[in-house]
Amino acid sequence: MSACEMTRVITLEPSVCAGDSGLALRTYITHMNSQRLLKRLHLQSPQASALAHFYANNFGMTCQETHGVWFCRQQGREVLISQGHAGKLHYALFVIHHQAEWDVFKTQTSHLTPANLEAHPELPTSALGFCDPDENCMVFVLASDLDMTTQTPEQQVHSATLPPAETQHFALRTQQIEAMKHFYTEGLGFTLSDVVKDDAGQLKACFVRGNEMHHTVALFGAPVTCFDHQSFETPSWAELKNWADHMGRLRTEIVWGVGRHGPGNDVFFMVRDPDGNLAEISSEIEICPDNRPVGQWRHEERTLNLWGKAIMRS
Ligand SMILES: [Fe+2]
Repeated sequence: MSACEMTRVITLEPSVCAGDSGLALRTYITHMNSQRLLKRLHLQSPQASALAHFYANNFGMTCQETHGVWFCRQQGREVLISQGHAGKLHYALFVIHHQAEWDVFKTQTSHLTPANLEAHPELPTSALGFCDPDENCMVFVLASDLDMTTQTPEQQVHSATLPPAETQHFALRTQQIEAMKHFYTEGLGFTLSDVVKDDAGQLKACFVRGNEMHHTVALFGAPVTCFDHQSFETPSWAELKNWADHMGRLRTEIVWGVGRHGPGNDVFFMVRDPDGNLAEISSEIEICPDNRPVGQWRHEERTLNLWGKAIMRS
């Protein structure tokens, strides 16, 4: 849907929702999702420096520490790390590119309590953050308000020697998956792409998208609550192979894959960082039309890896 169409629908809202509450407007606007792109993951770690150097070396990023925060950056991908608990997501940052979509998003989330972002001076003051039921903070910014870092000469060298790969999605483990699913879909307005259920019909995992790519956030029901993984999307299978060769040269073990996920149909491999978080290179993720029906998957290894073994979270 174009920005103009979104604006038009908002203008029509008083007549459509006459006599109704703000809930009707929110429900109406939920169908006009603003496009949001994952830009950055900010992780906590008890060994922030070691973690930063792991991402810098293995994912071809420069890293630099400023006021206690490690900034690992390369064109299209960005990981920030600060001192804290292993397996804890400090925040995820999403960019909304157009003013009209930003306005829709603010209306859509006006019923949520904003998070206090004062502890993150690297964020623009206009950033909006919301904590999910597990206290993971999701931050949204209008693209023009974000300081788009330009490449340094050192980063350009990395770009020339490694294939491109862009921050694309992340996953969380949760002990309250129904509440989390509700927050990301009904609260933040992400679109449900696929669900995974066990034979009793219990929800075990779900995948939600903030743009046309199959998932931006994956939620896994698990006995623990923690960060699961982040993924960097590379353009093709050939580039994924080059990334795997790069890990081989570094003697970084591939702990899962190469495989192909059922939900999203993306090929992938994963490595594990010094805190135990998984980190993924993926490619060929499904592009979803707006009217794509929600996919249903059985809770089994084959769902998470059509080619064989899976890391099961529950
Ligand atoms: Fe993934």
